[in-house]
Amino acid sequence: MASKVSLTRYLVEQQHQKGHIQPPLRLLLEVVARACKRISQAVNKGALGDVLGGADTENIQGETQKKLDIIANEVLIEANEWGGHLAAMASEEMDSIYPVPNRYPMGEFLLLFDPLDGSSNIDVNVSIGTIFSVLRRVQEDPTQVDPVKESEFLQPGHQQVAAGYCVYGPQTTLVLTVGDGVAMFTLDREQGSFVLTDDNVQIPADTKEFAINMSNMRHWDEPVKRYVDECLQGKEGPRGKDFNMRWVASMVADVHRIMTRGGIFMYPWDKREPNKPGKLRLMYEANPMAWLVEQAGGAATDGTRRMLDVPVTQLHQRVPVFLGSRNEVERVTSYHTTL
Ligand code: AHG
Ligand code: MN
Ligand code: MN
Repeated sequence: MASKVSLTRYLVEQQHQKGHIQPPLRLLLEVVARACKRISQAVNKGALGDVLGGADTENIQGETQKKLDIIANEVLIEANEWGGHLAAMASEEMDSIYPVPNRYPMGEFLLLFDPLDGSSNIDVNVSIGTIFSVLRRVQEDPTQVDPVKESEFLQPGHQQVAAGYCVYGPQTTLVLTVGDGVAMFTLDREQGSFVLTDDNVQIPADTKEFAINMSNMRHWDEPVKRYVDECLQGKEGPRGKDFNMRWVASMVADVHRIMTRGGIFMYPWDKREPNKPGKLRLMYEANPMAWLVEQAGGAATDGTRRMLDVPVTQLHQRVPVFLGSRNEVERVTSYHTTL
């Protein structure tokens, strides 16, 4: 029987055989995976671990934080701050960036994360996850080791050097790209290690499944209304086939389904808060997911532009999101550009 490939071995091979990553990035990804294992344990304990419920605090987005949002954020910071691979971190749950403290060695990478995605599902025992994105620090003068500035984070998604998510569901699954396709690892709880379970994730170009929060339909723009309306008309409509709908309300779980069997995920701009470009955040939700989806053969846009080319002006910037099976994403994007 072929031996199992651990995350460690996969990363070592990405380094030695393929030359895709250097040791500091390998260390970084191992540390993030270790943090995800700890978050997974906390999630699994649920009420027994006193991790459910609200924390009576708000994040910069004005959202009420859950205890697990804060626990997951702390786990990721504590795991990553001392290893010498990072210069700074940024998170959905922190107003501004978190430079690595002076007492620790400084590395060349920047790590961004949504520590706990799908917060509304924590207390009801539905899949949630962690999303992360890695950028390389770009200093004007690389010979100077200056304090990290927030502006250094504001890089478009195509500059990511690694991206991934970990979904805490019936299984804990880590999905990762370093620019060489997408690999999926399942947590073996007895061994305590992530084991490679799919080394070449592929999203089919066509699908009959869409994901959107339908309760917002009356607030959508015309192109989104048209796209969903045509899906709903099924066999009798212009699409000539019946569609199914799913909405977990954890982006990480909806994207994981798409990674597994295809589909399209949409969180468009809507009229509820017309001044906000969308609900989801570009740097630690949309961009890492967009790169993973592209690496798996899918597509991701903000309705008009490739997501990975959207200019970044703010750390917590929001963006409309359309991602998944290529032909469907291209279709809904074309509705935005031709209407
Ligand atoms: P988070 O829990 O990190 O704030 O993200 C929640 C996001 C995303 O995961 C999900 O797709 C979306 O919010 C669900 O929004 P609705 O409740 O508006 O459907
Ligand atoms: Mn989120
Ligand atoms: Mn979150």
